[in-house]
Amino acid sequence: MIIHPSRSNSWWKDAVFYQVYPRSFADGNADGVGDLAGLTQRLEHISDMGVEAVWVSPIFPSPMKDGGYDVSDYCNIDPMYGDLATFDRFLERAHALGLRVLLDLVPNHCSSEHPWFQDARSSRDSAFRDWFVWRDQPANNWTTFTGDPAWTLDERTGQYYLHTFLPEQPDLNWANPDVVAAIGDVLRFWFDRGVDGFRLDVIHCIGKRIDAADPPEAANWGHCPFNDVDETHELIRGLHKIADSYPGGRALVGEVFLFDLQRVATYYGTPDVPELDMVFNFPMIYSPWSAADLRARIDATMSALTPRQAWPAWALGNHDNPRQRTRYGSLDAARCAAVLLLTLPGTPFLYGGEEIGMSDAEVPPSRRVDPIGRDGCRAPIPWDGSSDHGWPGGTWLPMPADAEVVNVAEALATPTSILHLYRTLIRLRRRPALREGSFEWVDSPENVLAYRRQTEDEADECMVVINIGPEVSFPPGAGWRVCASTSGVVGDLFTGRLSAQSAVVLERPR
Ligand code: NOJ
Repeated sequence: MIIHPSRSNSWWKDAVFYQVYPRSFADGNADGVGDLAGLTQRLEHISDMGVEAVWVSPIFPSPMKDGGYDVSDYCNIDPMYGDLATFDRFLERAHALGLRVLLDLVPNHCSSEHPWFQDARSSRDSAFRDWFVWRDQPANNWTTFTGDPAWTLDERTGQYYLHTFLPEQPDLNWANPDVVAAIGDVLRFWFDRGVDGFRLDVIHCIGKRIDAADPPEAANWGHCPFNDVDETHELIRGLHKIADSYPGGRALVGEVFLFDLQRVATYYGTPDVPELDMVFNFPMIYSPWSAADLRARIDATMSALTPRQAWPAWALGNHDNPRQRTRYGSLDAARCAAVLLLTLPGTPFLYGGEEIGMSDAEVPPSRRVDPIGRDGCRAPIPWDGSSDHGWPGGTWLPMPADAEVVNVAEALATPTSILHLYRTLIRLRRRPALREGSFEWVDSPENVLAYRRQTEDEADECMVVINIGPEVSFPPGAGWRVCASTSGVVGDLFTGRLSAQSAVVLERPR
């Protein structure tokens, strides 16, 4: 099957995105916590890679019960990160470097410290009571991401409220038009300041059928069929209209935590009635590191998205999952993952720190911060091999144990580092075959993923070969030259020999 990804002019189709976890990126005031000043100072690390857009995990005021995904003011900056003026300086610098900026909006729930919830829980008569979901008894058997019941009794007013995540993250009631309007105003607030779009946290959860009969199995928060409902789509269409009313094409990228890619595809809407511009592909993040599994998930993605002219968004990690080197088992595998991520048809999202091949940090129980143990992949980025690794005030989480050798300065100084591989791949993506070419599998040995990308006029053609197994021979025919490789060697004709866990991008010399 040859697939031609649909194209119309949208900046986000050509960009490589980089996810910044702001608490761990860079520390501008030496208090041990990353902040906007530090991020602004280090932005060139990102733009020098050739990346064109950043998604910044939440930076809004928050009690930090869930790493900032518990927002207590949607239109401000947490003092730990700076203030609105620091944000404006960051945005200006990012734009000057050619980087678009996506903020991370959390519309399904806010913090229990948010004034809306504080008011709502003050009395059953509060004007904000109906901004949240209250029942005399738990209305269903839903559970949260910790496995606990999704309903908590509010002692003072004697009713239960719904929270898909922690009790400190009450769900907003999107059936209430005032909530819809309030979050619309949040989008406008940041669009007016110049942001280029949003990553929308668990956006598939905003519509809900709360009082429908319980599903037969205990409801898992991510898969709950009562969240993935028509009402959600209608609400997302409304958000899209707001984004569309701004010039320059503001992007909405949705976290739709569903595993049925046919369902995921519906969140793009249709070309006439659009919903999200891109939707993350979780089956890929959760795929075992095996050629057969990856191939099946890529096929499922393409067959679900292509009929809708929907543009894929690929990610192989984020702040919720172990890093690639840890999850796939080696730096070589992480290098292969870089080749895969950057050569599939669609937009790649790279989680900050992967570009230097970081592993997860070992976080002892006394230093754990996250309620469900995702600390390891959130460790601070080591900037150099000095004793503090560029963090003179210490770090809020421990660094990975190998920070002395796995750090940005070392990666920059080593021509064969994974950082230079990322840079090469990002540069290579500008060529037409990888940017907009068709996608077609090439027959290959069991552990090898091989695919061809070609422009419609056949003027530009690349082949990608990724060996996820032991050493293998795979001669793909004469005349292919290596233009990127996990070993760092480029320019030679490809011999067909691939060492264990290695990959090449090939071109036909023109
Ligand atoms: C998804 C985010 O990626 C995760 O970090 C967070 O805990 C949940 N949504 C709840 O907001």
